[in-house]
Amino acid sequence: MTDAGSRDWPRWPDRPARPRFGYGADYNPEQWPRRVWEEDLRLMRRAGVNIVTLGVFSWSRLRPDPHTWDFGWLDEIMDRLHENGVAVDLATATASPPAWLTTAHPEILPVTRTGETVWPGARQHWRPTSPVFRRHALEVTTALAERYGRHPALAAWHVSNELGCHNVHDYSEDAATAFRAWLRERYTTLDGLNHAWATDFWSQRYTDWGQVLPPRLAASHVNPTQQLDFARFSSDALRDHLRAESAILRRLTPEIPITTNFMVMGHVSEMNYADWAHEVDFVSNDHYVRPEPGGADELSFCANLTGGLARGRPWYLMEHSTSAVNWRSVNPPKNPGEMARDSLLHVAHGADAVCFFQWRQSAAGAEKYHSAMVPHTGAQSRVFREVTELGRVLAEDLAEVAGSRRLPARAAIVFDWESRWAVSRDSLPSSLLDVHREALDWYTAFLDAGVRVDVLPTDADWETYDLVVAPLLHVLPEATARRLTGYVEGGGHLVTTYFSGIVDENDHVHLGGYPGPLRDLLGLRIEEFAPLPEGVSVGLDDGSSGTVWSDRITVTSAETEVLARYADGPSAGGAALTRRALPGGGGAAYVSTRLDEAHRVALLGRLLAEAGIDGELPEELRGRVELTVRADDGAEYRFLTNRTDEPVELRGLLGTPLTGVTTSAEGSRVLAPRGITAWRLPTA
Ligand code: GLA
Repeated sequence: MTDAGSRDWPRWPDRPARPRFGYGADYNPEQWPRRVWEEDLRLMRRAGVNIVTLGVFSWSRLRPDPHTWDFGWLDEIMDRLHENGVAVDLATATASPPAWLTTAHPEILPVTRTGETVWPGARQHWRPTSPVFRRHALEVTTALAERYGRHPALAAWHVSNELGCHNVHDYSEDAATAFRAWLRERYTTLDGLNHAWATDFWSQRYTDWGQVLPPRLAASHVNPTQQLDFARFSSDALRDHLRAESAILRRLTPEIPITTNFMVMGHVSEMNYADWAHEVDFVSNDHYVRPEPGGADELSFCANLTGGLARGRPWYLMEHSTSAVNWRSVNPPKNPGEMARDSLLHVAHGADAVCFFQWRQSAAGAEKYHSAMVPHTGAQSRVFREVTELGRVLAEDLAEVAGSRRLPARAAIVFDWESRWAVSRDSLPSSLLDVHREALDWYTAFLDAGVRVDVLPTDADWETYDLVVAPLLHVLPEATARRLTGYVEGGGHLVTTYFSGIVDENDHVHLGGYPGPLRDLLGLRIEEFAPLPEGVSVGLDDGSSGTVWSDRITVTSAETEVLARYADGPSAGGAALTRRALPGGGGAAYVSTRLDEAHRVALLGRLLAEAGIDGELPEELRGRVELTVRADDGAEYRFLTNRTDEPVELRGLLGTPLTGVTTSAEGSRVLAPRGITAWRLPTA
C-alpha cells in the first residue's frame, strides 16, 4: 500500500488516512486573467480535482529578465489552490527558456544533424549539454525550491517537462564536448574506443579525442556503434539534467518526492526509461491513445510497461487527453465513454493518479485545438460532464482500489531500449524492423489468448516468471545471454524472435552462426538472414504466414522440434518455428518471422500450455475481454475491459462490481462495447 507520507508518492497536504487517487491536469493559470482563476477553482471542486501540475511553461513569467523575479502570481494561485483542497505538483519551469536568455546566449540552442540551429518560437529550444543553460535552469529550480519548498500545497516536484520530447538529439559543439567526456568515461582509452567502434573499418581510426564527433550528416552510413553510443549518450545527457535539477530539490526539500513525465508511447523511443526510472521517486507517464483500431491495446501495452518501470508500485498518469489532440494530421474527438475507458485502463495497470493535458483549453497558441478538462465551450459540455463523472468514480466507486498494486502475471514480455535503438538505424538487413511493434504484436496475442502478461524492462527480475517472451532482443551482451540460458536451464520457458542475440553491447556480431550466445540454447544455427520486402509475405507449412523477416536455419539439437517450416519464399523448406525442450522441463522457442496474428495466438497457446499457464477468465470471455488484477493486503481487484464493439455479458464471474457494468432486464451483468469495469473479489 502506498504510504501517504512516504517519498514514493505525492505528499498529500491534508495527509489522508488512506491512499486515494490523484485527479487533475496541467494547469496554466498564467494564460488567463484572475477572474477565470476563480471559475477554475469552482469547477475543479465540482470535478473532484485534487492535484494539478503547475508552472510547466512559466519561466518567462517567473523571471521576465535576468534581474527580475516575479513570484506574485504563483504565490497567489498556490495559496488559492491550497484553500480549495487542490495539491500542487510544481514544475521546475525549465522546459522552455525565455527569449532574454536565448537572445543573450544563443549558444544554448540545439543544432541538428545537418548543422541548422533550432531557433526559439516553440519550446524545448535548449541543449541538454549546455553549461550556460544548465546554470540558468538550476537558478530557477533553486529559486522555486527555496520559495515553495515549505508551501502547504506542494505535493511533488515535476522536473522540466517531457525531457527529450523535442531536443533529444543535439549535434552542437557542446554536445561534441560532452559526448567525448561520456566516451572517455565508458572506454577510458582511445584504444578502447577504437576497438568498440571498430574504426579500422573505412579508415575511421582516432588518434586524438578531439577528432571524435557526434554522428553528424556524413557521406554514407555513419559508424553504427558511434550511432548506438550517441543514442545512449543523448538519453544519458537528459538524464543528467534530471539528476542535476533533482540534486538541488533533494538538498533543499528532502521530504518532497520528485518525478518527471515519461513518454512511454508508441512513437517515442529515444529516452531509456528503464534507466531513468531509477532516478525518480515515483514514475509518471504521458500517453495519448491512437485513434485507430488496436489503439486501446497499445494504451494497455504502454500502461503495462509503465507499471513494469515502476516495479509494480503505483504510478502517476501525468497526461492524456479528454478528447482530441492537435498534433496528428487529423484529430478526431473521443467518443462518449472513451475518456473514462482510457483513464481506467491506466488505473487497471497500476496508475494511482489520472491527469490530463490540460485543465482549461487554451484560447490561443499552438495547442488551442487540443482538448482539455474544461473545453472552449465551457462547463456546459459533454466533456466536462464526463470529467465530473470520472472524478466521482475515482473518489467514490474505486476509492478502495487506490494504493493496491498490480498482481504479477505468470508470463512476461521483455522490452529492450538498446535493441530498439540498434534495429531502427541504417545499414541493417532490413529497414522494416520495429521493436515496439513486435513487442506489441506479442502483447496483443496474449490479450487475444486471454492470458495476463507483464511488460518489463530488460533489467527487471523476469526470472520469476514461468514464460518470458523476448522479442527482437537484438543487442545481447554475454551477461544477459547467461541470464536467459540460466533461466531456461532452471525450468523457464523462453520465446525469442528473429534478429535477436545478434550483436554484443558494442554492436559487434557474435560470430560462428547466429544467434551466437543463444545458438546452443535454441538448438539451431542461422547461416543467412532472408528479410522480406515490404508487402511480401511467406507461407509456412502449418497454414500460417510471415512478413518482414525469415531466416535460413539449421537445426543442431535432437531436442529441437520444428513446429513449422517455410513452404515458400527465400527460406523454403527450412525451419521457421522451433522449440527446444530441455531435460529440466524448460523450453526455448524461436520464431523467425513476423507471424500473422491468428497463428501467433495459436503458437502462443501451445507455448503457454508447455509452461503450464492457463487463462484466469471463463473461456467465453477470453480474447473479448482484457483482464488486469490489482491486489491489496486484504483484497483483489479485477478490471475487465471489453475489447469488442459488442456488449459482453459477464457470466461466471465471482465478486462484486464496483463500477462500469449495467444489469439487463434478465438480471445478467453487461459490459458496454469498449467499456471497462472493476470488481472486488471475495476475500478468502
Ligand atoms: C505533451 C506536453 C504537453 C502538451 C501535450 C499535448 O504531452 O507535455 O505540454 O504539449 O503534449 O498533447
